[in-house]
Amino acid sequence: MEELSLHILDIVENSVAAKATKINIEIYRNDKENLLTIKIRDNGKGIDKELLQQIESPFYTSKKERKIKVGLGIPLFKFSALQSNGSFNIDSKKGEFTEITASFQLDNIDRPPLGDIYNTILGIIIAHQDIDFYIKIENNGKVFDFSTKEVKDTIGDIPFSYPDVYEFLTKNIEEGIWQIGLNPKKVY
Ligand SMILES: Nc1ncnc2c1ncn2[C@@H]1O[C@H](COP(=O)(O)OP(=O)(O)OP(=O)(O)O)[C@@H](O)[C@H]1O
Ligand SMILES: [Mg+2]
Repeated sequence: MEELSLHILDIVENSVAAKATKINIEIYRNDKENLLTIKIRDNGKGIDKELLQQIESPFYTSKKERKIKVGLGIPLFKFSALQSNGSFNIDSKKGEFTEITASFQLDNIDRPPLGDIYNTILGIIIAHQDIDFYIKIENNGKVFDFSTKEVKDTIGDIPFSYPDVYEFLTKNIEEGIWQIGLNPKKVY
């Protein structure tokens, strides 16, 4: 996979499949520490210890429709992190939560670009409006965060795709990203 935002999409889809009602997506960039960290946490069905051990190897999936058991979402993300001198960790408790943390050496030649994080986030929250997302982007200590629950509490049952709401969301996210010193249209 070429961009980290596509991995994020993939990992979030796992959370959705695990029936999560809350998903946190956190991205930390620290130039001094030369580190980019992505953390995705959900309150879905969780993964038991035995499964957890198998998941990180590329030949495991619990998708029943597949004849050959191959799940690639997690292994590819892990591979990408380790390739760029980073680290990868999954923490989970059955019936409670799953948290995936991937770190990348920021200036490593093998680190994939973050990609279009602005549109990725927008796409995720619009596609899964029933899920409460907490999004946090930290750029060298400057933080932009927001929760879709707060948006929903304010606007009520109006779909995020409704023009006025959509405009509010896009503006909010765009400005938030600018405010922490990043360009939403630039690929990092
Ligand atoms: N957040 C999660 N909560 C609960 N179970 C999870 C979660 N993420 C992954 N899993 C379990 O780990 C398995 C492997 O995940 P992975 O993303 O590597 O492959 P996949 O989703 O099965 O297939 P692919 O991502 O290639 O379409 C999943 O099938 C699922 O059983
Ligand atoms: Mg997957």
